[in-house]
Amino acid sequence: METTILGRTGLKVSVAALGAGGSSRLGLRTGATETEAAELVRAAIDQGINFIDTAPAYGTEGVVGQAIRKGRDRLVLSTKVKATTPGTSYEGADFVKPGDITASVEKSLERLGTDYIDIIQLHGVRPHHYDFSFNELLPELLQIRDAGKVRFLGITEAFGKDPHREVMQRTIADGVWDVIMLGHNFVNPSAMQGILPQAAKRDLGVMAMYAVRGALARKEWLAELVEALIKTGEIDPEAIDISDPAGFLLDAGTSASLTEAAYRFCRHSPGVHVVLTGTGNLKHLEDNVAAINGNPLPDRVLQRLSSIFGGVRSATGDVASPSAPQTIA
Ligand SMILES: NC(=O)c1ccc[n+]([C@@H]2O[C@H](COP(=O)([O-])OP(=O)(O)OC[C@H]3O[C@@H](n4cnc5c(N)ncnc54)[C@H](OP(=O)(O)O)[C@@H]3O)[C@@H](O)[C@H]2O)c1
Repeated sequence: METTILGRTGLKVSVAALGAGGSSRLGLRTGATETEAAELVRAAIDQGINFIDTAPAYGTEGVVGQAIRKGRDRLVLSTKVKATTPGTSYEGADFVKPGDITASVEKSLERLGTDYIDIIQLHGVRPHHYDFSFNELLPELLQIRDAGKVRFLGITEAFGKDPHREVMQRTIADGVWDVIMLGHNFVNPSAMQGILPQAAKRDLGVMAMYAVRGALARKEWLAELVEALIKTGEIDPEAIDISDPAGFLLDAGTSASLTEAAYRFCRHSPGVHVVLTGTGNLKHLEDNVAAINGNPLPDRVLQRLSSIFGGVRSATGDVASPSAPQTIA
């Protein structure tokens, strides 16, 4: 497993991080038991992953806690707090009250079975949350950090809800946050034109999510997304084989699968430190770890991807198809 330094945190982390949320939630969403989900976490650790991301909203902190009872100190744990009151919509403005963030962190510590969290992130911050987060939540987060309960602070974006990436830009510019988690994949590589270089300049730790999501998990879902993006005018139909949009990625042994190409693209995008992989499937986990540790895609493939998807702004990788997985933040 390759490792890297997560920007200004100085943390040494595996380039692949295990995401305990998304549409898989370690398999809990598709019927895995908590014991099986904990086995998947242990399998990830056995394969060299030392970085695990979870959140109260995923319902997986307890599973992670169960899996890491031994060896916690060799791991980097990231979990989250929400700016809006738990149980209310992320889109609303029913903001938490003073003390709620501290109480949330205490509960996370208990569920994770640890006395410190490496990275606490504000979860899925919408543009209308940012001022409140900076003015009201940051002072409380700093107190929690000063008490030794968390080591570093971060913000995760609401990819797709913030097409101008306003929250990420403010997070980077404000200089108080250590880590960002942003949406990035080859169907929407817009972060490469602004956020990633800016984050690198400020030495923030960068975790990429949405590397695969729905559209890059299956060729038919990618085809569905491409069709939608042709309709919005973001993809030129002349630039792509509509009947087989992923064909060129798999030609001549470039990549064994769409997911492999997607993880390799994300991992080698300049400025990305760590790629999150969200899965409930042990074989997928193994394949994804290999892909994230794989070589960059060839330049000709990167150029082709850029000529097709370089102008896309509205897509996240989620697809509307009822057969595609639905997700929690
Ligand atoms: N705002 C936020 O804070 C936020 C939002 C989203 C995600 N996240 C974090 O990012 C993590 C990753 O989430 P993501 O949605 O971005 O994950 P992802 O790794 O891009 O995609 C996960 C999806 O791809 C499928 N998949 C994974 N490997 C596959 C393979 N080899 N072959 C076929 N299908 C495969 C998974 O299904 P299987 O289970 O069948 O493998 C799942 O449906 C989350 O767990 C969470 O920690 C944070």
